[in-house]
Amino acid sequence: MEYRKLGSSELEVSSLGLGTWAFGGGRWWGSQNDRDSISTLSRAIEEGINFIDTAPVYGRGRAEELIGRFLKKRRLREKIILATKLGLSWEKGKICHNLKRERMQEEIDESRRRLQTDYIDLYQVHWPDPETSIKETAETMYEFYEKKLIKAVGVSNYSVEQMQEFMKYCPLHTLQPPYNMFRREIERDIVPFCIENDISIISYIPLHSGILTGKFFFNAIRIPNDLCRKNHRDLKEPYYSLNKEVLKKIREIASLYSKTLTQFVLNWTYHRRGISSILVGARNIEQLEENLGAVGWCIKEDDSKKVEKILEERGKRLAELSGGS
Ligand SMILES: NC(=O)c1ccc[n+]([C@@H]2O[C@H](COP(=O)([O-])OP(=O)(O)OC[C@H]3O[C@@H](n4cnc5c(N)ncnc54)[C@H](OP(=O)(O)O)[C@@H]3O)[C@@H](O)[C@H]2O)c1
Repeated sequence: MEYRKLGSSELEVSSLGLGTWAFGGGRWWGSQNDRDSISTLSRAIEEGINFIDTAPVYGRGRAEELIGRFLKKRRLREKIILATKLGLSWEKGKICHNLKRERMQEEIDESRRRLQTDYIDLYQVHWPDPETSIKETAETMYEFYEKKLIKAVGVSNYSVEQMQEFMKYCPLHTLQPPYNMFRREIERDIVPFCIENDISIISYIPLHSGILTGKFFFNAIRIPNDLCRKNHRDLKEPYYSLNKEVLKKIREIASLYSKTLTQFVLNWTYHRRGISSILVGARNIEQLEENLGAVGWCIKEDDSKKVEKILEERGKRLAELSGGS
């Protein structure tokens, strides 16, 4: 496993981080067995993953509580870089944004209680709150940082402009954006900005919610009836057939390395410019073990160029399908 520093903070994280959204189960990911989540966590740490990402909203406290119990019982807290988030609350069954100072102060205590920890290593604003100024949010994060309740400050789903505003009031160590072979918007302006400002990018959905494993195209696995996948554009025609064709070509390149499509996709992602760590979801040991095969090797330049061409071609075909030039 490789380890990389997070911005100007003291923290060093594994190039693969464990994403725990699916540990929350529910409508977004369907049912999840806690025993599988615990064995996945346990194996991940044995294999050198020291970076765990979670959020209060993942199963409305369920993922944080499970991680907190696990780390306490195994006495692993000090060995782990624990990342969680704030800014999404649930009220009367509905998820809503709230990044007002008072709510942030409640949230950090709620997360520390669920995670059974005095401090959070990386605390991240989950999404911008349209009703609260970035100044208020950033100043409150700075208070947490000054009081050493958190060791590093992150934001997620922020634009360059939002980061610039945030940085007027608080140091910023990380950004957590979506990024994978099929979602590359951040390459335009966010990646150069982060490199220039020493902000580490820890990207999410590297497998495009499982789609880039290829299993919904090649393994006769039914598309799950969960909110993450059931209405996903990339699993519906005409996109489905295009994606199948594209993934088939990439799988052929992966086979030259004796790697699965999943391992190849993950390796490609964490070697991209500006990426410090990728957060990969795995809901059982089998998935985790396959994903771990993504580290410790490199894609040759020639093959990277071939991938680039395949993805460029996909971009053109997508533009045609949506009526663009
Ligand atoms: N900041 C944000 O707004 C935000 C948003 C999304 C995610 N995240 C973070 O990023 C993490 C990763 O994103 P994600 O979990 O949404 O998506 P992902 O990593 O792209 O996909 C994870 C899902 O793919 C399937 N999978 C994983 N490995 C597999 C394998 N080897 N073979 C077959 N299937 C496999 C599993 O679901 P199935 O078995 O059900 O197919 C798993 O839950 C999250 O857990 C979370 O920590 C953050």
